[in-house]
Amino acid sequence: MSKRSSQSWILGAVLVAGLALAAACQAPSESPQDLASLSSRTYVPVGEWDKYYAFLSGGQSGGVFVYGLPSGRLIRSIPVYEPRAAYGYASVPGTESYERLAATGPMWGDTHHPILSESGGDYDGKSLWINDKANSRIARVDLRTFETKAIVKIPNLQATHGIAVISPDTSYIIANGEFRTEVPSGRVDVTAYSSMMAFLDPMTLEPRFEVLMPGNCDIADSSKDGRWAFTTMYNLEEAVTIEGMIQREEDAIGAIDIRAAEAALERGEFTMINGVKVIDPEKTTERVVYLIPVPKNPHGCDVTPDGKYVMGTGKLSPTVTVIDISKIDQVENLRDAIAGQPDVGLGPLHTTFDGRGNAYTSLFVDSQIVKWDIEKAIAGDPTYIVDRMDVHYNVGHTQATLAETMHPTGEYLLSLNKLSKDQFLPVGPTMPESQELIDISGEKMMMLASFPAEPEPHDAVFMLAKDLIPHVVQTEELAENAVPEDGSRVERVGPNEVHVYMTAIRSKYGLNDFTVKQGDKVTITITNIETIRDMSHGSANENYGINLALDPGQTRTVTFVAEKPGTYWYYCTWFCSALHLEMRGRMMVEASE
Ligand code: CUA
Repeated sequence: MSKRSSQSWILGAVLVAGLALAAACQAPSESPQDLASLSSRTYVPVGEWDKYYAFLSGGQSGGVFVYGLPSGRLIRSIPVYEPRAAYGYASVPGTESYERLAATGPMWGDTHHPILSESGGDYDGKSLWINDKANSRIARVDLRTFETKAIVKIPNLQATHGIAVISPDTSYIIANGEFRTEVPSGRVDVTAYSSMMAFLDPMTLEPRFEVLMPGNCDIADSSKDGRWAFTTMYNLEEAVTIEGMIQREEDAIGAIDIRAAEAALERGEFTMINGVKVIDPEKTTERVVYLIPVPKNPHGCDVTPDGKYVMGTGKLSPTVTVIDISKIDQVENLRDAIAGQPDVGLGPLHTTFDGRGNAYTSLFVDSQIVKWDIEKAIAGDPTYIVDRMDVHYNVGHTQATLAETMHPTGEYLLSLNKLSKDQFLPVGPTMPESQELIDISGEKMMMLASFPAEPEPHDAVFMLAKDLIPHVVQTEELAENAVPEDGSRVERVGPNEVHVYMTAIRSKYGLNDFTVKQGDKVTITITNIETIRDMSHGSANENYGINLALDPGQTRTVTFVAEKPGTYWYYCTWFCSALHLEMRGRMMVEASE
């Protein structure tokens, strides 16, 4: 029997077994009381906190959704590539966040993969990064304030897709440019097409170097020792049509040897392109890129928590390819680095882990999560499939709690489904996206709850609340340009330029009014001088398009030209006290002659 036909036979057997198992353990045998008791596991009493923060990519909302788990309560959405007046983020021209976002591209994004900073292979609660596939950007969110602090457009690539932290200490952030384009760009030249992997400074996000890659780079991960960056790769045909992209039977997991890349940089083996050191792996003394063959057009790329294996999840093939990381630079033929290739079901997309030796793979076509025993699958033990659970429907990403660290908690798994069909109240032709929370603490998976989201949740990461709470600040530290309690004033700094400084505290601005002249360039600086958490103020100038939201301790600045003469009230946009309605003042713009 050929390998392929034996795989099909096993797949058939597994599918039959899976169906029998599904019939035995799914809904019909569960009474309403059983289901209610399962869903009660997600109950978090009023006033109590969830055990986990769940960070979900906001898809085309352009931000990040933060849920509490297990309750599924939405506790914050973090705007990244989109404006949000409520948080004073990028909604008003002349403010710092607006100008920074506008300088990198449009005021919307397509976010896919949230990743968290690590120290010693575990989450350290400092930063979160999120890509914008549509505009080749990446951003960093500071987890002390849940605010976006840096955004860059990455040079020399298109479609920032897979991103990953280089474990164990966040030495780089890697970002794949999935689409093949000319490098350097600016002219149509198919022969110069390449995809790209960028290695970025974690804080500033400036590229330290980039590596030219064949085919299309898809999903990224890293080894646990900082040595390897991994990416799934498809279209090694380097075609430009869908038909052309699925001709060959094999594509690859790409492994970039970071030490070899750094050594190549030191030897000067790079070309400067648009200000970035670009390594062509075909021109280095030492080998930088290894392509381990996997069945064609793979998708997920996931490293096991113990750092032993990297897994390429099949997509078009019903298999997961398990690669022994320690063998990559030891074997003559890279096929010998493949430890196993278990069949798991139809349309496998992503694989996640519980830290107890089990993998969980999402099956897009079968609409299932399949749990399988990694070492049994490698050993060829036919009982490697442990459990299957139906999800609703067509799951894309799946993540288990802390699965990307060296210490997964193996408690919950989120199934991020592409279709919800009959799960929620209809809202027109497009239904809400669906996320399902599954308990994976026992031998069998248990479906706990389902909750909808805005389009479209794509991937998720989790932090234990106890590990993040100590990092979250209660008030902002006063900035250098903070207006002190007695510092409210108006300064004319030029014939047509005025600086206005004022404080905000319950429930009064430092200036009851101020006057400028039509045509003046006005810079307003406001400091919320509250010293306790949760006392926010705002300042919206009626009919002037200006709104600043201010956390306790925060200073914000806006610059604009006072073009419209007349009286414009500014008022507080956060309900801060019983006198909140009275918290306002007047900006008077005197008409020029
Ligand atoms: Cu300050 Cu309402």
